[in-house]
Amino acid sequence: MKQFSLVILSLIISVSLFAQSGQVEVNNSQIPSVYHNIKINDAGFMVFINPETSKEALLFESPDFVNLSDLRNTITGTKKGLKIDLNNENINGIVYFGLYADNDVRFPQPVFFKKTAALEKGVAKIDIAQLAGKYDIANWEEKGVAKLGYRITDDKGQIIYDGKIYAYGTGPFETGLSVVEGPFINLLGSTQVTISFTTNMPSSPYVEVDGKKYEAKQMMGNMKGDINHEILINHLAPDTDYEYTVVFDKVRETYSFKTAPANGSRQAFTFAYASDSREGKGGGERNIHGTNAYIMKKMAAFAVAQNSTFMQFTGDMINGYSTNTNDQVLQYANWRRAIEPFWHYIPFIVGPGNHESLVSAFDDGTKYGKAVDKFPFSTNSGERVFANSFVNPKNGPKSEDGATYDPDENNTDFPPYEETVYHYVYDNVAMIVLNSNYLYTPEHSIIPMIGGNVHGYIMDNQLEWLKETIKMFDKDKNIDHVFVTIHTPAFPNGGHAGDDMWYDGNDSIRPFINGQPVDKGILERRDEFLNIIVNKSDKVLALLCGDEHNYSRMRIDNNISMYPDDYKGKKMKFKRSFWQMTNGSAGAPYYGQQVLPWSSSVEMFSTQYALMLFDIEGKTVNLRVINPDTFDVIEEILLTPESK
Ligand SMILES: [Fe+2]
Repeated sequence: MKQFSLVILSLIISVSLFAQSGQVEVNNSQIPSVYHNIKINDAGFMVFINPETSKEALLFESPDFVNLSDLRNTITGTKKGLKIDLNNENINGIVYFGLYADNDVRFPQPVFFKKTAALEKGVAKIDIAQLAGKYDIANWEEKGVAKLGYRITDDKGQIIYDGKIYAYGTGPFETGLSVVEGPFINLLGSTQVTISFTTNMPSSPYVEVDGKKYEAKQMMGNMKGDINHEILINHLAPDTDYEYTVVFDKVRETYSFKTAPANGSRQAFTFAYASDSREGKGGGERNIHGTNAYIMKKMAAFAVAQNSTFMQFTGDMINGYSTNTNDQVLQYANWRRAIEPFWHYIPFIVGPGNHESLVSAFDDGTKYGKAVDKFPFSTNSGERVFANSFVNPKNGPKSEDGATYDPDENNTDFPPYEETVYHYVYDNVAMIVLNSNYLYTPEHSIIPMIGGNVHGYIMDNQLEWLKETIKMFDKDKNIDHVFVTIHTPAFPNGGHAGDDMWYDGNDSIRPFINGQPVDKGILERRDEFLNIIVNKSDKVLALLCGDEHNYSRMRIDNNISMYPDDYKGKKMKFKRSFWQMTNGSAGAPYYGQQVLPWSSSVEMFSTQYALMLFDIEGKTVNLRVINPDTFDVIEEILLTPESK
């Protein structure tokens, strides 16, 4: 009993100490067994003990900067407009604001007013009353409701958030129910689609399609509704245009989507691909807290203007690597908001990269500390927060539990794969999305002592799932082309020669689980991966990658030199040629080309911003690569039939 009270006492003490120093409270039972040398020390703090120096490094978490909820859910009405309180006295700056026009604009955006509001000690008052008369493009004076855009910047001009909200009344004003994000088109199939959006308060809004009312399934006992809404629209006809209307309070917002053709229809269509839109330099919208909103918006606008039916985006949307979940959540919101006007119409389907990492970090005096995938995994891992931030298919592997290196077969010891690894089909094309930053420990040199997975390594269960999925699509008569997309290239060409699936030819690089290295090194695993997608399938046309902030296209066949000179392992042969295309050109700072053993196989390399547009027509696939900022054509090439 005495011991028990001491535990309670030490917990209370540690909680208050944590609160002062930015430490986090995690108890012993939450330390994943896949890690090594992480413990609760005698003083009750979680630490990483470096086995080489025996030094303890304390778990830490960055304090909250701005919470997304304070940016949009707690806005209140005033006599003349609205009041925003960021709940952070350290933030001063400017709030730009303006109305959305009250007409049927296909891609609604606010027009910022000539005057601004001061942001002082985290508080700003927006004067809507001055947007009257000739400035009232929202007709709020007549209708009593105005859709308002607001952009929050700090005293260095850094944009923190671009928001939208409905103001009700003609003075005094109040904030009623508002869709503050979305609606977004997700999981687009030939007979159904899922429409998602976020409201500023718990509610039960609905969507109308073809005169039918669709509501979200409510959780038992949740009478007030939710703020995140996912509404399934089903029993639709294939290849058909539909208008949809989101209905909330007095407001109706109408957009449209087109259902996919029935699988295997072999109609002509286009899809778009890019990755790596984390913050760029240059100021302004090139960095809206963690994301290059300027280039990403250009990407999305151009993809839609080119009649793309969907856009695949594989990793590094945001800067990420946060220790603080709220900060990661804000960065994801900024990415979604940057392309929201276009996402009203077509799906933007995302896979994870290394920057989607969310970490538990131990302060050892180095810049970032010693970091591992954040835990507890089921609620706090990078994988879980990614899954919560997007609406992706749930047909991937469960986790790495059950693999030969699983430390405890009766417990869940690994993060979930859910919504980070999956597949989907559009007409005669299948897309397989992989996660090469699962259980990711960012600094690979510390993995032998702390555990986790390296950048670029596909672990056993995911590889097995890939093998089965490839087999399934190979048998599927409706599918002509399979694309495999993964953030890290098998063959880096510019920026990542020291990692991805190469590590300068060092096959000793591999994950460590519970203090033990796994059997296969990074090069052996790369070969197993390539063997599945090239030799076990005639349908995989291309591997679509990112990570490197440039565009490269290379033809992979047996002419390629792909091993270090002293390589002792088994060397693979390709049964046919295929393409690797890397396109991390969506706004992250660029890398130039590096010289690697396979450089003579690189047919195109560019450091321009690049959107890839795949024009599919039956068995024919044509690729156009265009700079969405200047519309300059980087290249156009017929990818079939010679490569299949
Ligand atoms: Fe990356």
